[in-house]
Amino acid sequence: MTAEPGTRALKADEAAIAAAAACLKQGGLVAFATETVYGLGADAGNGEAVARLYAAKGRPAFNPLIAHISDVNAAKRLAYFDAASEKLAAAFWPGPLTLVLPKHADGGVADLALAGLDSVALRVPAHPVAQALLAAFGGAVVAPSANRSGHVSPTSAAHVMADLRGRIDMVLDGGNCAVGVESTIVACLGEPTLLRPGGLAREEIERVLGRPLRVALIAEEMPIAPGQLASHYAPKAKLRLNADAPRDGEALLAFGPSPEFSGTTLNLSPRGDLIEAAANLFSHLRALDAAGAKTIAVMRVPQDGLGEAINDRLARAAAPR
Ligand code: TXA
Ligand code: MG
Repeated sequence: MTAEPGTRALKADEAAIAAAAACLKQGGLVAFATETVYGLGADAGNGEAVARLYAAKGRPAFNPLIAHISDVNAAKRLAYFDAASEKLAAAFWPGPLTLVLPKHADGGVADLALAGLDSVALRVPAHPVAQALLAAFGGAVVAPSANRSGHVSPTSAAHVMADLRGRIDMVLDGGNCAVGVESTIVACLGEPTLLRPGGLAREEIERVLGRPLRVALIAEEMPIAPGQLASHYAPKAKLRLNADAPRDGEALLAFGPSPEFSGTTLNLSPRGDLIEAAANLFSHLRALDAAGAKTIAVMRVPQDGLGEAINDRLARAAAPR
């Protein structure tokens, strides 16, 4: 099945979920709501569907994809768990945590989706739409964020349509994403290692493990997470980070109490709540972009809790390109 020119955006009711599962079975591409960001799903075992998925996103390279499954039992059919990954899965699945684990030889995930690696990234999403789709499909669904390569991740069905209309078969609309940044990625291929800060705060993971997470050394280990390109989460506007005050002609992305400013302003969280800020991050960047801002001044965001993921995405969005 090729992507129809008319991409259907459907409210994710029972009939739409059944249609989406059938579409995946036939090799189609279905974007769906998760609690982090919208994913663009394909049947994990169908190499051709995976190839069309890369084409729809316009990915510069075949980055490895996250396989989404409905529960830990399904995950264990795809990969080997050790004591640390057992603990993390028990504590945080379903939820915004992705575990990179040694893959089973016969797991059935298409090699193309794994970019030839011996490991596989697994996530059990918590969103009821994602859960219902996985249950109806009855297998693993690989899904990167449902945006064109290099754009910010979509946190609403409208964002997905803006990027991928006409390139995919269907969007399952499940409302706005509650978390708003991608999952935290931890590799358990030895000492548990943080590959990407995300929607689950590092402190929570460390509390469960009872020890600090290793952090990947960017130069040496990031090649195993090639999605971590320096300028991966880029709006069209330039970003000026840690701005104390906006300048004439800039738009302002505020956090906490907004300074007085006559230009276009959006606030990630007027009350300085990092969870609310994460949920608003990508939609506010898109909205300021759409308003035609040339430069967005971004106020300082603290580095604790979800601040680590927010500052990571902001630094990528600000990287020269
Ligand atoms: O919240 C999320 O994680 C969303 C939703 C849809 O689940 N998905 C998402 O996928 O952000 P994507 O493709 O945009 O980012 C997945 C990241 C990439 O940086 C990729 O390189 C990394 O996961 N990754 C996948 N498999 C890997 C592996 N075996 N080893 C290391 N990194 C891997
Ligand atoms: Mg992405």
